[in-house]
Amino acid sequence: MVKHYSISPDGEKFKLPEADDFVREFERLQNIVGNQRDKDREIVVVMGVGFVGAVMAAVVADTEDENGNPTKFVIGMQRPSTRSYWKIPFLNRGLPPVQAEDPEVAPMIHRCVNEKKTLTATFTYDVLKLADVVVVDVQCDYLKESLGDVKNGQTDMVALEKSLEIIAEHISPRALVLIETTVAPGTTEQVAYPIMRKVFRKRGIEKDPLLAHSFERVMPGKHYVASIRDFWRVCSGINEEATNRVVKFLEEVINTKEYPMTVLNRPIESETAKIVENSFRATILAFLDEWSLFAERNGVDLIKVLEAIRVRPTHSNIIFPGPGIGGYCLPKDGGLGVWAYRHIHGFEDDIFKITPLAIDINDTRALHVAQLVRDALRNMSRPLAAAEILLLGASYREDVGDTRYSGSELIVRRLTEMGAELRVHDPYVRHWWEFEKQDEYPSPTHSLKRFFRSQDKLAGLHIQQDLKQALYGADAVIFAVRHKHYLDLDPDTLVETAGAPLAVIDCFGILDDVKIKRYFELGCEVKGLGRGHVKRIKDKVRAEREEMLMALSAKHKADST
Ligand SMILES: NC(=O)c1ccc[n+]([C@@H]2O[C@H](COP(=O)([O-])OP(=O)(O)OC[C@H]3O[C@@H](n4cnc5c(N)ncnc54)[C@H](O)[C@@H]3O)[C@@H](O)[C@H]2O)c1
Repeated sequence: MVKHYSISPDGEKFKLPEADDFVREFERLQNIVGNQRDKDREIVVVMGVGFVGAVMAAVVADTEDENGNPTKFVIGMQRPSTRSYWKIPFLNRGLPPVQAEDPEVAPMIHRCVNEKKTLTATFTYDVLKLADVVVVDVQCDYLKESLGDVKNGQTDMVALEKSLEIIAEHISPRALVLIETTVAPGTTEQVAYPIMRKVFRKRGIEKDPLLAHSFERVMPGKHYVASIRDFWRVCSGINEEATNRVVKFLEEVINTKEYPMTVLNRPIESETAKIVENSFRATILAFLDEWSLFAERNGVDLIKVLEAIRVRPTHSNIIFPGPGIGGYCLPKDGGLGVWAYRHIHGFEDDIFKITPLAIDINDTRALHVAQLVRDALRNMSRPLAAAEILLLGASYREDVGDTRYSGSELIVRRLTEMGAELRVHDPYVRHWWEFEKQDEYPSPTHSLKRFFRSQDKLAGLHIQQDLKQALYGADAVIFAVRHKHYLDLDPDTLVETAGAPLAVIDCFGILDDVKIKRYFELGCEVKGLGRGHVKRIKDKVRAEREEMLMALSAKHKADST
């Protein structure tokens, strides 16, 4: 059955537009743009109002000249799909379509839509006819065909290629098209340019499209806006005119005075910069996986080891990987590069060793957490099958609500196939779509569900917001994410709330030694990624208990003689 509405995360239904609505909508936009041009404002269309586009649109709409007058009018454009259409009415009310912990996001969108009136959103591609600048923020996924083998996959260019064709069909030849999407290196010159030029020629336009690339370094979280506006940019245009236009545009909207911009010679260099910086990060995280296992098996606390190393200034960015590396970018970006080498540039040899290996390690690291849960429960003489396990944290990093490719998803899936019953608490996540819509998310053929058995019941997995309720009766608790809510949990209160001693699994160095000791004293079992020293603490607690028992029995003997 065809659905005619789109539902927002909080359950509000929005009817999808019909043919007449498109005509009326374009009239609305023409009127607004006419007024905005009278005010001498540049018209910027941001295509795709997801995690990046929604906030980028607001940053551009908030741009002012030295007298405090807005210089841009922004139209966020989103295709009217059942999955995403709701973002348009949300934006038009002045509400962010993304959940953001940054206190700047909501007021900025409200201000631009309702007070400055420099931001609106639409569903019609006709809006592209009105643009001076088009910023492309649609997704470009990398689809993996197996778990832990990134080379067995491909770049999903469909949404991006379609967007570029549509843009070329509608825009004025003078419009700048700025691709911000993270793409396979070579895409701007070897995919976008030919697509757009062909359409231009069909339209009788001899001029080449004005194409440029500048990638986003956005970090959804506490500094969401600043990570777009107050951050270093890299850009490049397809020719001199495009380069001049992109530099001018970014200098106007981004704080390039304090965060100078790097202009590279060709878009492939800007595209490669994005892929290399994310592959570098994925690699330094992945290499700690083997040291994490080394630490667990040899009585070493890797958390303390890393703290000791970090004092050395050259090594200050060494970070503990947690239960896998999620987020939208790190798990896929290296794959885009490896894929481009063969499928855009035509090379047959296999030059990539470290980048794919790092991604494969990161993509499967979370599976080890299930083993730790199994072993901790076994030490308490409880079987994992049918155990009630509470996972604390669904998102991919601390204090954000973004669950894309989080290690937590794999933990839930593996433990479920091993027979456990899972509950999940996360103060930042209301719906975990990877489970609730597991047959269509992230796409109908690419849910991680397909790599595990017995997953059907997980469609009913709902995130709990009440920590006390979630804890009650749990056999095991997994600290999966360093959300601030979990850092100070007191062992006595936790065990009392659970109702009995339980297995405690620390995936992110959340527990200090005092807490680990207390959990053992309370009769719990503790295990952690990279935390081999817990065994020492356990032995110490046991020795202290035995000493106390011996002292008690000696006292008892002495009292009874
Ligand atoms: N999220 C991050 O943290 C982050 C950081 C840096 C870079 N990036 C990159 O930015 C790009 C966008 O990522 P995102 O997180 O915003 O993705 P997203 O999936 O949240 O948003 C993409 C949006 O584009 C829309 N869209 C797709 N095709 C369209 C079309 N033809 N017309 C109009 N809208 C269309 C989708 O419906 C969606 O709303 C990606 O290349 C990503 O790799 C993301």
